[in-house]
Amino acid sequence: RRSYEYIEVSEPRPGVGQVTLNRPKALNALCSPLIAELNTALRSFQASPTVAAVVLTGSERAFAAGADIKEMAPLTFSEAYTNSFIESWSELTTALKKPLVAAVSGHALGGGCELALMADVLYCTASANFGQPEIRLGTIPGAGGSQRLTRAVGKSKAMELILTGKSFSGEEAERWGVAARVFPSYEALMEGALGTAETIAGYSKVAVQAAKEVVNKSQDLPLRDGVEYERRLFHALFGSQDQKIGMKAFAEKKKAEWSHQ
Ligand code: CAA
Repeated sequence: RRSYEYIEVSEPRPGVGQVTLNRPKALNALCSPLIAELNTALRSFQASPTVAAVVLTGSERAFAAGADIKEMAPLTFSEAYTNSFIESWSELTTALKKPLVAAVSGHALGGGCELALMADVLYCTASANFGQPEIRLGTIPGAGGSQRLTRAVGKSKAMELILTGKSFSGEEAERWGVAARVFPSYEALMEGALGTAETIAGYSKVAVQAAKEVVNKSQDLPLRDGVEYERRLFHALFGSQDQKIGMKAFAEKKKAEWSHQ
């Protein structure tokens, strides 16, 4: 197994891969080498025959306290522009076609909040500390926060959060639809995230990939096109073995044994 400096990688449950951000001295601030390692790890989970769903977490104290401010401070416009600074973060949403569950405890600020928003399912602790504080640094969110947070909470609330830089709790994240579920402790959070990933990993890989693909399309397409896209892929799955296996098992009151074909 490859060794990493800023992350840890494991397979804690059958079918489940885990990436743990591990830069404790900087509260998991997301420096460029960390993002490069994260992308490498996700690509290797994508290629792995044993991993079917992935959990992304940080520590109890910090999921991630943002992009690395010390790295960004001296950047000039032309350096940021010509090197497409931050663009590689988007690989997170394209490198992995398997579902990604973010388990957020502690700080998820700036780029940390944006990273969590890129996950397919976001779980958090009640006391998690989310926010887009970039305005306090004289800048704006740069890793999709203004777009994904606005889609999640609506325009007025997103404006308030991004223009004031005020943080919001895990409780609020769940109430506003940013988080799918909220947990009372870090232990419960990890149990919940790994359990959900394990559940997903127990289904047909073909159907799971298709399900993720169609939900993501809802973020990009107008409703009519999205519904049509879904129907096309639904039709396509009649060509999979697992659709036959799943429906036959239901009729025979048996557990489906997926072929993943
Ligand atoms: N970048 C670099 N270093 C960071 C960091 C960041 N985003 N966040 C924390 N650290 C470092 C601190 O500098 C400190 O290092 P030293 O011990 O060497 O001084 C260490 O992590 C511990 O941090 P604190 O001592 O500040 O810990 P705290 O518990 O007192 O405060 C905190 C925690 C409220 C999260 C505070 O660290 C903080 O406000 N961090 C910055 C949050 C932020 O503004 N994030 C947005 C960044 S901009 C961005 O992300 C752009 C984008 O959209 C892509």
